[in-house]
Amino acid sequence: MELSYRLNKIAEKVTINGIIADIGTDHAYIPIFLYKNDKIKSAIACDISKGSLQKAVDNINKYNLQNNIQTRLGNGLEKITLEDNVDTIIIAGMGGMLMIDILEKGKIIVNSVKELILQPQKDIDKVREYLHKNKFKIIDDEMLKDDGKYYTIIKAIKGNEDKLYKTEEYIFGRFEIDSKCKILKEYIEDQLYKMEIVLKNIKETNVQSRILEIEDNIKMYKEVLKCL
Ligand SMILES: C[S@@+](CC[C@H](N)C(=O)[O-])C[C@H]1O[C@@H](n2cnc3c(N)ncnc32)[C@H](O)[C@@H]1O
Repeated sequence: MELSYRLNKIAEKVTINGIIADIGTDHAYIPIFLYKNDKIKSAIACDISKGSLQKAVDNINKYNLQNNIQTRLGNGLEKITLEDNVDTIIIAGMGGMLMIDILEKGKIIVNSVKELILQPQKDIDKVREYLHKNKFKIIDDEMLKDDGKYYTIIKAIKGNEDKLYKTEEYIFGRFEIDSKCKILKEYIEDQLYKMEIVLKNIKETNVQSRILEIEDNIKMYKEVLKCL
């Protein structure tokens, strides 16, 4: 089974030989791939949508993995119990605020696992902030581009950061900035280009507050770009 570049990168981050819960599994490609490649002991694939979970069931049956990957219909982590002994929670391909809501409602389970692997589609800064507020430490953070779109994958474990994050590290990721990530550089250049166009158009309408907001953003993006 071939995974997309994004899903493959998510799978790569999972610590081997554990039990995973894939929340919002949809097609269940990640648990199937991990199990078939001997990377995990077993998996629980959860989704809130009957249609999505049916896709997962069909794919799991296709690979004859019914005894190794369970499926559960439910909202977030509600169908996971402490007795499941989950090691890794994966939540990928959904908005950051929904992800935070799932983590918050499932706090008991979240605090019982060894690692979180999160790929929020937006509000990535809010997810990083949430992890820190809830005593998780970010041990890996990677930006990638797949099929023309930018994605970020965050891996976190229980613990505190040695050094507090700065605002721009919440927005762009400390690992990405420190490693002078080429994809981040490209992303910032793309965003700056778009912001300059918006700024030019907005200046014609004279909405002062929005102009200042965009100018501030442009300044901050340019500062980070200098470090990359
Ligand atoms: C875009 S798909 C992502 C699928 C897969 N995780 C990936 O990254 O390719 C999002 C999935 O999350 C599910 N979902 C949305 N809200 C959810 C929730 N509160 N609890 C569980 N699943 C949810 C949707 O039904 C959908 O199947």
